[in-house]
Amino acid sequence: MAGRPAAGGNLTAMEIREVAVVGLGTMGAGIVEVFARAGLAVVAIDVDPGALERGMVTLDRSLSKAVARGKLTEQEKAAVLARVRPADRLGAAAAAGLVVEGVPERMEIKRQVFAELDQVCRPEAILATNTSSLSVTAIAAATRRPGRVAGLHFFNPAQVMRLVEVITTVRTAPATSQVLTELVRRLGKTPVQVADRAGFVANALLLPYLNHAVRLLETGYATREDIDAAATAGIGLPMGPLALLDLIGLDTSLSVLEVLSGEFGGPRFAAAPMLRRLVEAGLTGRKAGRGFYDYETKERARRPDSDTVLNDDRVAVPGPVMLVGAAAGPGMRLAEMIEAAGWPVAADSHGSGLVIVLAKEPGTDVLDAALCSLGVLGRTPLRGAARRMRSRRRSSCSRTSPSAREKRPFPGGRSTSTTSASRGRPASSSTPRGIAAARSASASVRAG
Ligand SMILES: NC(=O)c1ccc[n+]([C@@H]2O[C@H](COP(=O)([O-])OP(=O)(O)OC[C@H]3O[C@@H](n4cnc5c(N)ncnc54)[C@H](O)[C@@H]3O)[C@@H](O)[C@H]2O)c1
Repeated sequence: MAGRPAAGGNLTAMEIREVAVVGLGTMGAGIVEVFARAGLAVVAIDVDPGALERGMVTLDRSLSKAVARGKLTEQEKAAVLARVRPADRLGAAAAAGLVVEGVPERMEIKRQVFAELDQVCRPEAILATNTSSLSVTAIAAATRRPGRVAGLHFFNPAQVMRLVEVITTVRTAPATSQVLTELVRRLGKTPVQVADRAGFVANALLLPYLNHAVRLLETGYATREDIDAAATAGIGLPMGPLALLDLIGLDTSLSVLEVLSGEFGGPRFAAAPMLRRLVEAGLTGRKAGRGFYDYETKERARRPDSDTVLNDDRVAVPGPVMLVGAAAGPGMRLAEMIEAAGWPVAADSHGSGLVIVLAKEPGTDVLDAALCSLGVLGRTPLRGAARRMRSRRRSSCSRTSPSAREKRPFPGGRSTSTTSASRGRPASSSTPRGIAAARSASASVRAG
């Protein structure tokens, strides 16, 4: 039970003896552990019975790890568990002096939860949100007690990370922020006081960095393992950015980026497309069993070193890329972008894994232009009708102006001009490597 309110109806930090934690997901289970280990009674609430059970299992496992590491005795573990009371409805928070909300990062859910908590909780209880990025001010406005609403932003994993941001709105009473700051110290954590701005302090610093790591991965700079190794072995961070995204949750990270982007704008906070796609696919990280890494087996969950996930999502570097028709303008810009993404741009078709043909005119036959530029027509053993097409193509190749064919966009590059040509298709039974490359790449880029 919470203690009696001090004069003026405010609870002091020492008078808060019972805390309710709402939402037992990634963060909630850890927050329950923090309070219970500090000696407070905790009501652990989740409206989803499955999530509630998973949260309690997570708590038990985490405490067992602490026992295995000698940080807790079996008796202490049992005492901590005895202080935690699971519940599946918000009404169970009625006696708490403090409620910490850890439901998904969606404003409508949070406002709904706060409006309900406002009804069921004691008038002097403080309601705190663990939101990473949403407006605490807007959440507080769903209650009739905005003076007793603040942000209490724990970091993941809550039982390990020392920082807790105490976020105040223009309406938060100084007493509320003071009580929360003292309480955070009582938990053995480091409080920092922050105004209600998107991302507060830590996420405004962290998320652009994590997002950039996804961009590096999707543009083929390096593998996920090498990106993570660069951060840990090179920069000295305890965890690589992609492994950290899996731990935070890709959906949560995307939500934070969207809020940062909405508040500050610009490309800095624009979410990498790969991050969005993984969230859409339900691959939200550890909690889903898969994210950038595979956590479906216990073996892999220990270290993010599996190569079984993302093979289908990973950007395959196809080897040198040959550009046909990139003499100037958008073509040159495309070549620069491809090189900037780390793919070599080839001077000729030898060893090319991808041929991109830029067609300037609507009538341009992309495949024929590619064949002319690759010089494969003369080597193609065609028969019958295909032979006639070949002869038409040869003449179309020869119509290409010599000056155009001599244009070289890159040092040593070969023909860069496309030409109008016949619409025939080569005989598939006699497909040389160059044609196969042009086909499999199926890449025609309309320039200009
Ligand atoms: N994941 C992180 O690393 C991290 C770090 C700091 C802060 N946060 C913030 O903590 C909050 C929770 O994030 P998470 O990653 O733990 O989310 P999560 O999706 O892992 O867990 C959310 C839990 O809330 C429960 N829930 C949903 N609606 C509910 C309701 N109406 N009442 C009670 N329970 C409800 C769900 O069943 C689920 O168990 C978010 O605001 C997030 O931004 C997350």
